[in-house]
Amino acid sequence: MKVTSIRGFNDILPDEGRVWRHIEDEARRIFDVYGFSEIRLPVLEKTELFSRTIGETTDIVEKQMYTFTDRHGDSVTLRPEGTAPAVRAYIEHRLYTAPVTRLFYTGPMFRYERPQKGRYRQFYQIGAEILGEESPMVDAEALHMLAALFRNLDIRGVEIEVNSLGCPVCRPSYREALTGFLEDKRDRLCANCRRRIDKNPLRALDCKARGCIEATQDAPSVLDYLCAGCKGHFEGLKAGLDRMGVEYRVNPRMVRGLDYYTRTTFEVTALAGGALGAQNAIAAGGRYDDLVRELGGPETPCFGFAIGMERLAMLVDRSAVPERPLVFFIPMGGEAGRMSIGMISDLRQRGLRVVADHRGASLKSSMKRADRMRAGFVIILGEDEMKEGAVTVKQMETGAQERLPYDVVADWIRERIPGRPQ
Ligand code: HAM
Repeated sequence: MKVTSIRGFNDILPDEGRVWRHIEDEARRIFDVYGFSEIRLPVLEKTELFSRTIGETTDIVEKQMYTFTDRHGDSVTLRPEGTAPAVRAYIEHRLYTAPVTRLFYTGPMFRYERPQKGRYRQFYQIGAEILGEESPMVDAEALHMLAALFRNLDIRGVEIEVNSLGCPVCRPSYREALTGFLEDKRDRLCANCRRRIDKNPLRALDCKARGCIEATQDAPSVLDYLCAGCKGHFEGLKAGLDRMGVEYRVNPRMVRGLDYYTRTTFEVTALAGGALGAQNAIAAGGRYDDLVRELGGPETPCFGFAIGMERLAMLVDRSAVPERPLVFFIPMGGEAGRMSIGMISDLRQRGLRVVADHRGASLKSSMKRADRMRAGFVIILGEDEMKEGAVTVKQMETGAQERLPYDVVADWIRERIPGRPQ
């Protein structure tokens, strides 16, 4: 019986894995120079962690969580995102005893969404969280880091949109104004937005239904309702971004699908017409100054974001991803086979990527296999070579071929590998 994968749960095949690895390597390098350390979090958490933080009336909590009762009768959930678990760990392990904590994580998240290109039920994020910093310079710096990652990955055609969602002081007056506005347009809104007018009116600004888009065109702007503190923070963010040379656009209609945000929110989107199509948000995040306290920790202002790995990978130019060439070792005959073992292990110790053909097949058949495996180099050890203490080495792309003493072959290959030192 043939068993296939579950819809929305993808295999990341080796060619794609190579691109992911390239992205992760670059992200790790950049996060490191910005002072972040890695945290590895579990994929399963208590359900209440998410329902209390993401918000009871959000799409994620209402209909997208993989929640089940375990054998002990506890309600557990496959994490739909990484911020709540990071904050849980921060409090549980008292990481707040340090003045500032900068964490990053990578790994799968789970949301029961309708799968389509760029939207999956298991997807991967690279996330970063800064806990214990209030300054808008920190928000700007995190966006600067993200922009640096995109630049190093040579990703173009993306835009950073920023907004402020205010705080518990000023948001109620905005909510009130927006609710009043939406009540007037109630008939034109979709059923979902009508239902959420009271509980989560901001979501109407993000609704993709045509009627809702039209009805909310002149909705009041959150930026007109910010209190002095939030206004100052937003001005500080923009000034910081300008000073750091990060390009952005203010979008007062941008709301987020998670309820824990305060003040700064942002999204990085791919411009229309690119590889992503409708699912064009590549990264998103913002400030969540109340979350640590709400989960029982001390007052701790925070900022963070997460990048959608699948979407980012779609934007990376495959040909620019370095590929370590494969060295295909062909021993001709039993004696050569025995001799090759030490040589192969020596080449591997020198850092080359070596696979041998131990079938004892004809040279023609082995060369064909090397070709099909896209080998960069072939090493042949035949009778003549053995007599001379040599091997024949061939660079597949150029056809350059030489018989060389065995001990210089690794250097010969290395000199011909373009790009980074191997
Ligand atoms: P989010 O906007 O829900 O934020 O997700 C961040 C990114 O994950 C999205 O911009 C998108 O690229 C990717 N993503 C989300 N859902 C899917 C899906 N079903 N399939 C593929 N990719 C997806 C958060 O998760 C917050 N925890 C970000 C954050 C960190 N805020 C503060 N700190």
